[in-house]
Amino acid sequence: MGKNILVTGGAGFIGSNFIRYILSKYPDYKICNFDLLTYAGNLENLKDVEDNPNYKFIKGDIRDEKLVDDIISQEKIDLIVHFAAESHVDRSILNPDDFITTNVIGTHNLLKSALKNGNIRFHHISTDEVFGSLSPKDPAFNENTSYDPRSPYSASKAASDHLVRAYYHTFNLPATISNCSNNYGPFQFPEKVIPLFITNLLEGKKVPLYGDGMNVRDWLYVEDHAKAIDVIIHKGKIGETYCIGGNSEKTNKELTYKILALTGKGEEMIEFVKDRPGHDRRYAMDTTKIKNELGWQPEVSFEEGLKKTVEWYKNNESWWKNVKSGEYQKYYEANYGNKIVKNIS
Ligand code: NAD
Ligand code: DAU
Repeated sequence: MGKNILVTGGAGFIGSNFIRYILSKYPDYKICNFDLLTYAGNLENLKDVEDNPNYKFIKGDIRDEKLVDDIISQEKIDLIVHFAAESHVDRSILNPDDFITTNVIGTHNLLKSALKNGNIRFHHISTDEVFGSLSPKDPAFNENTSYDPRSPYSASKAASDHLVRAYYHTFNLPATISNCSNNYGPFQFPEKVIPLFITNLLEGKKVPLYGDGMNVRDWLYVEDHAKAIDVIIHKGKIGETYCIGGNSEKTNKELTYKILALTGKGEEMIEFVKDRPGHDRRYAMDTTKIKNELGWQPEVSFEEGLKKTVEWYKNNESWWKNVKSGEYQKYYEANYGNKIVKNIS
């Protein structure tokens, strides 16, 4: 039977890749993309699906409790996949407020409404950052690792994870959570390290490497993340958490050298800059559970994914130039103007 899915934050990086993946794989599923279009939301990410009869966009804020409730009931939603969040660690250091309101209160509004409108199936997208920071020899994070968030971003995501679990245990809300490592791929906003470094180099600018460049991240190609969420929403066990990762740990220095090679630039383009305050040293994910229980594992190697990603940025210069200049924010106005995409009374 077809599903009627509310995707929150679908105009962002991972959400837009997920929507494209689901619409092409399940022709009988309907998706309602609910997104505030903050600086990170960009409808150009979904230009190729905007005329698909199974796709609908509604502009709105998950912090608006009544609007969230109206949409969930009027759209007859039977599954919520919740991506919407403030997602950039550096911004959370400069100005944490929106992280608390969107990531915590926004998530709570969705949970309340999911419960009220018939105990709707809820999948929450979270991050490995809730587990804190690893030393070089520590074992990877897994589903039983204690929470130890260290930035306003990760603390707000940890709070949202706890609320989802609380709604499952207390009210039997049929919920699952996934905690994923660093994603990369097409349509990633060039504030995150991979698209920032690629686009800077394509523009002939230097790349700012924080601290000693030896912090480690585990990289996952975004379509592999979409596939992992697909298996969780279809086969995941209610009440469970699944760790998702690329089994591909790299120091930022290694990553930078790979990007330099793929863009034909030399190491003189690296600029070591002041470290991020509270910079987590290393993240790594043990993905045994999702592999053994749901049969998911990453399909795209880091070498292949990074090559594809650099090619995508080379071939989509107008997309990232619009994003870097702020032009993309005019897209919504120009294409939708005052036309109400969906009238919610
Ligand atoms: P993103 O910043 O690219 O997109 C976030 C989207 O949420 C944007 O479209 C934005 O407009 C929307 N949004 C923000 N506040 C909103 C609000 N109040 N109401 C409605 N919409 C709002 O983020 P992303 O990188 O695609 O991350 C998506 C989710 O995945 C987040 O929950 C993030 O914590 C999680 N995550 C990201 C990564 C990663 O590497 N990017 C890894 C693991 C988990
Ligand atoms: O681990 C999952 C998380 O990955 C997600 O939950 C977050 O939403 C996502 O933003 C990402 O967080 P990071 O902080 O790991 O990603 P970012 O791309 O900002 O940084 C990756 C690494 O690169 C980190 O060690 C900091 C470093 N860095 C980052 C930037 C932007 C630099 O050295 N220079 C930079 O300019």
